[in-house]
Amino acid sequence: MIEKTDKYINEIKEISDNKSIFDRNSPFENTLVYLDKGNVLGFLIYDVIYEKVEIIYIFVRKECRNMHIGYKLLNNLINSLKDMENITLEVRCNNPSAIHLYEKMGFKKVATREKYYCGIDGILMEKKL
Ligand SMILES: CC(C)(COP(=O)(O)OP(=O)(O)OC[C@H]1O[C@@H](n2cnc3c(N)ncnc32)[C@H](O)[C@@H]1OP(=O)(O)O)[C@@H](O)C(=O)NCCC(=O)NCCS
Repeated sequence: MIEKTDKYINEIKEISDNKSIFDRNSPFENTLVYLDKGNVLGFLIYDVIYEKVEIIYIFVRKECRNMHIGYKLLNNLINSLKDMENITLEVRCNNPSAIHLYEKMGFKKVATREKYYCGIDGILMEKKL
């Protein structure tokens, strides 16, 4: 089950491998959680800024990966959007499963930010809506 809610923030913080995303205090932020019997298996944090959507982070518990939970979270987001221009995100070039998933969802590479992440290139991707 996927729910749009802030109420699992503590569970999300605990399972996430990226803690810096929780220091943003963005007024535009939204969270989708993937739940199984009340347990958070994955989450998607994104900003909606007027007609633009930016994916901040998507995460699935290690033991639950490659079971299409990431796909379902992204699909749920895409299907919920109305009158939006595009969705953008940035991904490290050495993250093949994430890049594969984004390309499968129709995202295209639009720019490379060289050495953006401590020497690792960041790839900017966009899905036009
Ligand atoms: C990226 C992430 C959210 C994907 O979640 P997931 O639930 O495993 O995603 P899915 O199962 O829907 O899709 C994963 C796809 O990658 C594929 N994949 C797995 N390893 C791969 C690899 N080394 N190279 C290419 N594709 C790969 C899977 O086969 C699957 O594709 P398919 O459905 O066409 O077979 C998850 O790996 C994760 O939490 N990673 C750590 C956090 C992260 O890196 N987030 C992205 C930040 S930009």
